Amino acid sequence: MTATPTRPTPVELTHHNHLAGIFAPQRTEVDVADLPVTGELPESLTGSYLRNGPNPRFDPIGSYVYPLDGDAMVHRVSIENGRASYMNRFVRTPMVVAEEAAGQAIWSGITDGYTPPAEEVGDKLAGTVRELPDINIVSHAGKLMAMAEADQPYLLNAKDLATLGRTDCSGAMRVGSTAHPKLDPSTGELVLFNYTLEVPYLTWSVINADGTTKVEPTPVDGLTDAVMIHDMALTSTYIVLFLCPLIFDLEAAMTGGSLLSWRPDDGTRIALIPRDGGAVRWITTDPFWVWHFANAFDNPDGSVTVDYVEWSYPGGFATEPNPSSSTLNRAVVSPDGRLSRTALSRRDTNMEFPRVDDRLLTRDHRRVATVAKGPGDVGDQDSLWFHDLVADTETCWTPGVAIGEPIFIPGAEGDFWGAIGTDPADMSSRFYLLSADDPASGAIATIDLPQRVPAGLHGAWLAG
Ligand SMILES: [Fe+2]
Repeated sequence: MTATPTRPTPVELTHHNHLAGIFAPQRTEVDVADLPVTGELPESLTGSYLRNGPNPRFDPIGSYVYPLDGDAMVHRVSIENGRASYMNRFVRTPMVVAEEAAGQAIWSGITDGYTPPAEEVGDKLAGTVRELPDINIVSHAGKLMAMAEADQPYLLNAKDLATLGRTDCSGAMRVGSTAHPKLDPSTGELVLFNYTLEVPYLTWSVINADGTTKVEPTPVDGLTDAVMIHDMALTSTYIVLFLCPLIFDLEAAMTGGSLLSWRPDDGTRIALIPRDGGAVRWITTDPFWVWHFANAFDNPDGSVTVDYVEWSYPGGFATEPNPSSSTLNRAVVSPDGRLSRTALSRRDTNMEFPRVDDRLLTRDHRRVATVAKGPGDVGDQDSLWFHDLVADTETCWTPGVAIGEPIFIPGAEGDFWGAIGTDPADMSSRFYLLSADDPASGAIATIDLPQRVPAGLHGAWLAG
């Protein structure tokens, strides 16, 4: 008879920056209409801004690794007839439901190796690890999905954000999906990849516009290790993956070491995976790290352009003499395998969350928005930057708050960017609506949200 493993002790909240201040979990779920608005919301703008992010249901036990740990909370700001409402809900995985019944955390952080026993959670959940659909939110083929780092997503009811359960998307996500599938606006297809800790390590698949599977999970040959790959880019002909040398090291993790190992000697490998199933093209270059892509597109000469945020190394998962820094970059892969990488931005500190008008995914784009420090460096990620790649200009809006990912919002009489920010002084949160024509001039409308929205990850705009 084996002894029941001991439940880990509570995490010291004050030792975790990502459990305090603007990141502190929000446990209250509300549904509030007619929010105060400063400025004017366009009468013709109708839709919802949705955002996901880590938000532990109960104070964590064992360990807490941001942004991988935490339960998911989805926030929604809806706009209609010049008025605004807000709703937030936990994504209720079986772990969250069981913990709510117990009134405390039962599952530990993902790096602890502790799993709850059957006598505590029943046979079905015994030995499971916490499910974490807390990275992104994606709408496709009538499904609203809370996306995990590399797992099956959870379906949500678009009306009330109720959790409907896991989905494998008719088999296309049978082995899971990373949090950043890409929707091809010209075909309606959702193209995705997933990484796993076992062979084949990497697969891709495609979902038709009607939700049926076009391409079943298909292995990518040529990997000898499990590689962490957070995001992908998509062109009309290729899935673009950057395999930066952040390797899962299960042996090290089992002996108390780090689950992820930064191996710069391996370099970064770029994979161009033909969407028609042809042979994968590989290009190897010097090591760098990528969390997020802005967009990619095919050029008439057969080359591929990829815009992304390039980090010198993955801060938090590697130790190097100099702090990790990032900027908005453009890579061009020519048909003969040559690679050029040039900076699109003159900024080089903590740039992240690059977004374009999603209607232009797979096609050339003029504008990219990012989050970064403002000109005065008054804080970390306190500003939105707007990069015009045709005019070669960068403009900045510094609202004086901690600001999140900018989402492009198409409108009937003009387009917008939207983002949620939180004032660290009083912990009040607001939704900011900026004109896409002149975003640096500031918000045309500011919606006061009824409670603090923790600094989080990715969002989406759902029209109508
Ligand atoms: Fe992400």
